[in-house]
Amino acid sequence: MIGTAGSAVADATTAVEHRAICALTDLTPERGAAALLDETINGEPHRTQIALVRVVGDTVFAVQQRDPVTGANVMARGLVGSRLVDGVEVPTLASPLHKQVYDLRTGECLDAAGKEPLPGEGGLRTWPVRVVDGVVEVGTPSVAPAAVATEGSAS
Ligand code: FES
Repeated sequence: MIGTAGSAVADATTAVEHRAICALTDLTPERGAAALLDETINGEPHRTQIALVRVVGDTVFAVQQRDPVTGANVMARGLVGSRLVDGVEVPTLASPLHKQVYDLRTGECLDAAGKEPLPGEGGLRTWPVRVVDGVVEVGTPSVAPAAVATEGSAS
């Protein structure tokens, strides 16, 4: 296995914090909704635009609101659907602009529709989502204080 030490460090110092975003009933099935997620990125507070998508069966997915092809924050207005991938029905979100189709579970682009993503973009970033007592919570990686201290003392 390659990079075992590196991933072990990452696992030990990275935790997921869940942030309550809205009630499940605020989300319309088969529709996207724009939301803001407070995250810590490189030690700095950051408010990230996300698109929440509730599908049939009360499952909710969170992906980046930014369209990778145009950079516009529009993915919550995309078309929710599904397609067969290797015989498995996959929940999808299509960009409202150029119709690229993304796997909602992984953010992977399933159909580039003849376009290239902007530099630094690819598929959609995704976040883990859970529903607790009717409240939609989105998980964001948070660096534990111990990890910050270690990095500081090493430099
Ligand atoms: S195939 Fe969609 S980003 Fe490359």
